[in-house]
Amino acid sequence: MPYTIQTHKLTKTFNTLKAVDSLDITVEPGEIFGLLGPNGAGKTTTVSMLCTILKPTSGTATVNGYDLISEADKVRKSIGIVFQDPSIDDRLTARENLTMHANLYGVPASEQKDRIARILKLVELEDRADDLLRTYSGGMRRRLELGRGLIHYPKVLFLDEPTVGLDPQTRDHIWKYIKELKEAHDITVVLTTHYMDEADRLSDRIAIMDHGKIVVLDTPPALKETLEGDVVTVRANNIDALNKLVSHWLGLNQTRIVDGALEITVHNGKAALPRIMEIATQNNIYVESLISREPNLEDVFLHYTGRSIREDNSRELHGLAAAQRRAIR
Ligand SMILES: Nc1ncnc2c1ncn2[C@@H]1O[C@H](COP(=O)(O)OP(=O)(O)OP(=O)(O)O)[C@@H](O)[C@H]1O
Ligand SMILES: [Mg+2]
Repeated sequence: MPYTIQTHKLTKTFNTLKAVDSLDITVEPGEIFGLLGPNGAGKTTTVSMLCTILKPTSGTATVNGYDLISEADKVRKSIGIVFQDPSIDDRLTARENLTMHANLYGVPASEQKDRIARILKLVELEDRADDLLRTYSGGMRRRLELGRGLIHYPKVLFLDEPTVGLDPQTRDHIWKYIKELKEAHDITVVLTTHYMDEADRLSDRIAIMDHGKIVVLDTPPALKETLEGDVVTVRANNIDALNKLVSHWLGLNQTRIVDGALEITVHNGKAALPRIMEIATQNNIYVESLISREPNLEDVFLHYTGRSIREDNSRELHGLAAAQRRAIR
């Protein structure tokens, strides 16, 4: 089976900055491929090149068997794009907006009505289909954008941060649509996200990107298995002192403070708990809670990028919107 996407040393340079650096990836037909990485890692730039929005500086790629550069038109017609698009026209209704896009993509007039009805149903906007978009909430708009990206039944759907800024319930909904789409229409999905739970639950494979390169690429369970051992989280009245004591015991790279709690990577969580408790008690540190768990994607991310994605999240809304606007220009 040929790959749906294959890149060969795909590179984008802005002045001296290598935003995407010799990227070699393959995406299989029907898979959900997650691109995860801190702000500025090169996710949007990668997706923008694969969507033909940005021209690569060097390297090549094929999408649906078409060459990204010499067959850009064919690539464009075979893909759907859901970027955060502030250009959505407020003065149209959802149905009008979908019709406009159907025309843009050359969907035959005889099929438009049916398709639009199906898509409105899929994204649960049937009731509001004839209301002006001006009256839509953020989540409803995002659902419409998702529907819009599907109007020409693309083979590949590119989603750049599809759920950023949405409440958990709406995010859950969007995930459900993405999964349904993949199963019902056999669509291949490339998704960028900051949300670990999203990447974990949706992706068949995840590539963690940093500084324009893939740091690690595997299925979510395999990524988590690469971190051997457990993570112990301690809340206590004197976290800094406890951090010093524990890192003296285990080594410097094994501990970090996240959201005011001490996180400790240990070989065996159960065995480590009494020892940590003992260290605290001997030093008059009061432990409020002590939990051992298996590593999650957040730990994987931290391990491979040296950064917590939570540090990035506070900046995400500003950074993201600005970076995307730049990337699209
Ligand atoms: N048009 C542009 N001109 C100059 N630099 C750019 C342009 N677009 C992106 N960059 C830079 O390229 C790097 C990668 O940006 P990109 O938007 O791809 O990151 P990202 O991984 O999508 O980040 P985020 O998580 O913030 O969306 C960043 O350093 C960014 O500042
Ligand atoms: Mg981005």
